[in-house]
This record gives sequence, structure tokens and C-alpha cells, in this order.
Amino acid sequence: MTIINTAIIGAGAIHGCHVNALRPLPNVTLRALVDTDIAKGQPLANEYQCHFYQDYREMLQDKAINVVHICTPHFEHKNMILAALAAGKHVFCEKPVGLNASEIADICHAVEQASGILGVCYQNRLNPTSLRIRQELAGGGLGKMLSIRAVLTWSRSGAYYTHSPWRGRLATEGGSLLINQAIHTLDLMQWFAGGVTRLKGVVESGELADVTEGEDSAMATLHFANGARGLFYASNCHTTDAPLLLEIHCEHGTLRLNDNRLWRITPDAHRELASDAAPDGTSKRYWGQSHQQAIRQFYQAIDERGDYAIDIVEASRSLRLVEAIYRSSQTRQWLTIPH
Ligand SMILES: NC(=O)c1ccc[n+]([C@@H]2O[C@H](COP(=O)([O-])OP(=O)(O)OC[C@H]3O[C@@H](n4cnc5c(N)ncnc54)[C@H](O)[C@@H]3O)[C@@H](O)[C@H]2O)c1
Repeated sequence: MTIINTAIIGAGAIHGCHVNALRPLPNVTLRALVDTDIAKGQPLANEYQCHFYQDYREMLQDKAINVVHICTPHFEHKNMILAALAAGKHVFCEKPVGLNASEIADICHAVEQASGILGVCYQNRLNPTSLRIRQELAGGGLGKMLSIRAVLTWSRSGAYYTHSPWRGRLATEGGSLLINQAIHTLDLMQWFAGGVTRLKGVVESGELADVTEGEDSAMATLHFANGARGLFYASNCHTTDAPLLLEIHCEHGTLRLNDNRLWRITPDAHRELASDAAPDGTSKRYWGQSHQQAIRQFYQAIDERGDYAIDIVEASRSLRLVEAIYRSSQTRQWLTIPH
């Protein structure tokens, strides 16, 4: 079994999910941790018994490192992906893959030239409930999909933004609620319905207007490629991180994800199909539980010289929707989404 040496760039809030997901992989060693903040990164590197770097470009010169995880602010993603791929590494990047859709072309070009693969972390596609929704829809028993409604109400305090000042700034986060939190929900909606053809949306800032330059709330109407309609509402102004409510209304029944449990509701039966509730200790529950699965599948793709499902094309879909909602909100127009 080949030993794979890994480096993580960014020792902030999400990096622990990556460290925990790497631990059970028998042929993977965490070889380096990188963070510009030495006071934060060095003690963690000591704890993980790995090398510490302040500059990721120095780390990339270590030829023994095969894989790089990017867990940094959004504005850093594109340059880090390009540099790591150019150095011959495989890259697993946290969402969003870039700051905006215009960065996608550069990343696509780099991926085409690269020997390594690029995977992007949309772990919620691997939640048991998400996989079961896809299975139920593919089975066809519920008939034609008519609409999806999704309601995401989380809580972000002023301290969340002041603690990591890149958050809440358009230049470094690229937006706020949509690009950081609700992008997962938009990704799931478009994945369940096979893509979005047009949308009209609006973003607004109320409770957090003094804290973030971006929006704290958003809503949109989506038209999906399969003819169904999507209704989307999200806000960071709730007082708790409520589990996602997502409901798919079909001709012969409804799939309802509520409180991390998936129900199939038809005129004759109300049946629980799957649950995301079992904690695996690797992530906050409302983020989803599936970093472990996503990272395991990424390393499997490396081992088998195969593809990782959420590549640059898949990762671009939700980022394009986020950007389209921002644009639609400015113009108050419907926008067509190129497929
Ligand atoms: N998949 C999920 O559910 C999920 C959840 C939370 C965060 N995220 C994503 O993870 C990424 C990081 O978010 P976070 O909340 O952990 O941020 P954070 O602010 O807590 O951590 C970011 C870290 O990166 C470091 N950093 C910044 N620039 C750097 C550079 N040039 N080189 C090395 N280190 C650098 C910072 O010092 C900080 O320690 C973002 O893309 C975010 O959207 C994903």
C-alpha cells in the first residue's frame, strides 16, 4: 500500500474535521500544517507531530507531499489550487472552489494541465439522507418532481466575523451567507433536480448589516432543468443553527428532510427513510456529518487513479448560482443559467 503524505493549509475552524477524517485512513500521514498565524499553527503542528510552515509555497517544495487540503479564506483558494496543482500535488479544497465564477476558467485550465486531481468539499451530498433522496428520485416511484422548497436558518454572531476578519468582507469572502453557508443548500437543490435553468433572487442585510459587507438573508425562485420549481430562503439571523428543512413535492408524494431525518409521505404512508443524526464526532451537526466520507472517497480516487465525483465542473454549479442570485438581486431580473 503506497503511503500518502498530506499537508493542510489553514488551521482554523474547519481544519479539525479534515484532521479527524484523515486519522482512520491507514496509508495517509499528516506531514505538514500551514498557517500564516504561527501562534495558532505551531502548537497544533506540535500536537499532530508534523512539520509547520507559515508560507504554503515553501511547503509545496516538499516533494514527499502528495496531497494538499485547502482550508483557508475564499480569496486564497484559486491561487493555492493553481500553485499546488503546478507543484504536482492532488488538491482537496473546501467550498467554494473560488471567490466568484470568473475564477473557474483559470482553475479549469490548471486542472486540464495537472497530473494531480482536484476535489471540492461538498460533504452534504454524502449525508445518508441526501443519498437516499437521490435513490428515491431515481427509483421513480413518486412520479414527476414538481417543486423543492428549502429553508436554512442559522445563527452567526458579530464575534464570528470579528474572530476571522476575512469573513464578512466582499474582497475576501466574496459575499456572506450565500457563498459561505447556504451554498451547500443550493448545491443540494440543483443536484436533486439535475441543474437550474433560470432564477430570480434577492439578498438583504438586516440584523448583521453593521457586521458584514455581504448579505445576511436571501431568497430565490429557481427553475430546474427537469421542469420543477425551487423556493429557497436562507438567513444567518436566527438565534440557533436549525437543521435544514428541505421538501421535495412530487406527483405521488413528498420527501421531507426535517430535523436531520428524511420522511417519505404518500396518501397511504408516512415512513422514515434515513437519518443524519448519528454523530461521528468529526463535525458540527448542522454542517453535516460527512467530511469523513468525502475525504475517504477522495483518497480512494487517488489510490485507484480514478475520478472524484465533485470535481471543478460539479463544484462550479453552486458557485454560479450564488453569483447569479447576487446579480439578479441588483438587476431585479430573471437570469438564465448556462447548463
Ligand atoms: N464544508 C463545510 O461545511 C465548511 C464549514 C466551515 C468552513 N468551511 C470552509 O473552510 C474554509 C475555512 O473556513 P474557516 O471557518 O475554517 O476559517 P478560519 O478563519 O477559522 O480559518 C482560516 C485559517 O486560514 C489561515 N490562513 C489565512 N490565509 C492563509 C495563508 N495564506 N496561508 C496559510 N494559512 C492562512 C488563517 O490564519 C486561519 O487560521 C472556507 O473556505 C470555509 O467556507 C467549510
